[in-house]
Amino acid sequence: MDMKTDNWLSTAARPVGLIIRQKDPNNLEMPFDRLHEFITPSELFYIRSHFPAPNLDPLAYRLSITGAVRNELSLSYSDIRAMPSRTCVATLECAGNSRVFLAPPAPGAQWELGAVGNAEWTGVPFSALLEIAGLDDDVCDLVLEGADRGVPKEEPRPPGPISYARSIPRSLAMEPDVLLAYQMNGEDLMPDHGYPLRAIVPGNYGMSSVKWVTKIVAATQPFQGYWQTSDYAFWDDSEGIPVRRPLAEMKLKSQIARPRVYERLRPGRPYTIFGAAWAGNTDITEIWISLDGGASWVQGDFVDPISRHTWRRWKYDWTTPTQPGGYTLLARATGADGRPQPERHNPNFGSYVIDHPLPIEVFVTGS
Ligand code: MTE
Repeated sequence: MDMKTDNWLSTAARPVGLIIRQKDPNNLEMPFDRLHEFITPSELFYIRSHFPAPNLDPLAYRLSITGAVRNELSLSYSDIRAMPSRTCVATLECAGNSRVFLAPPAPGAQWELGAVGNAEWTGVPFSALLEIAGLDDDVCDLVLEGADRGVPKEEPRPPGPISYARSIPRSLAMEPDVLLAYQMNGEDLMPDHGYPLRAIVPGNYGMSSVKWVTKIVAATQPFQGYWQTSDYAFWDDSEGIPVRRPLAEMKLKSQIARPRVYERLRPGRPYTIFGAAWAGNTDITEIWISLDGGASWVQGDFVDPISRHTWRRWKYDWTTPTQPGGYTLLARATGADGRPQPERHNPNFGSYVIDHPLPIEVFVTGS
């Protein structure tokens, strides 16, 4: 990156920390204008928790695998650490990221741009555990349950406390990069990120990557839990009939990290617009930037190569206008199938899947 352009902060000058969206439980987001490295430093990685983080002792920890399996398992933390490991890089985005851009305002944590991050995860492939457990032929879903419990605040509320639980389909669970991870960026998970063990489901919105996982159940019916039906679900269409389906794959999306909303820029100066784009299971092939609120688009350049399940940082070397005034910047990515991000948010997703180009308003000053 050109270090002389107007948006550069030297490494020493970069403040590191998160923005509070909710204090208890911890819901914290990255100040997205701090996007520099391909790998998000752990201390800048967002935290999205429905209940307070449980305090799990690794010596007492057990992971059970039960349900429609030939061999029920109860594994200790050291059993899991002794198994062959795999490392992968994956972008996690919370399905509610950028909710603050919805108008009228939608209920839920008012995430700006920072409920997304890209980290290196190390753990045991989920498939390796499932092979030892031996799934019955009719297993369709793997339910992962966390040790955190509570009563969700949103209606319809369950009759009592429940654990955070989510399922993934059997075919996805067998993908080599779906991990039960114990390390993030080369260090043991931090408590807020799921210590001692969490799932990582690359390509899915973050809600599938269950933290503090202690129970796995092999199910022969599609799982209908709270975070599968009431929350983290959307309205789909089944032959003209609206049906509720669980959110799964991340949609194609791009975000501008710099400039920031309402940043004041000097006129006629080189300025590197910088951001990132990601998707669930498609490659990102193009990035387009609008400097005039969507009236026209120019192509930006990727900083990172194509890599499935990770974001690609991108940039556009702009010369700021000489004409002072307000300008609205937008970024829009295109996937390998040639389809760009949608122009508007799809209301069937409710307060989730905010994947349209997000307006960043800036001001060019007189001098
Ligand atoms: N797992 C448990 N047990 N409890 C949770 O509240 N939140 C989910 C997922 N896994 C959650 C969970 C959601 S909505 C997201 S976006 C990711 O964790 C966030 O992971 P992070 O906090 O490590 O960024």
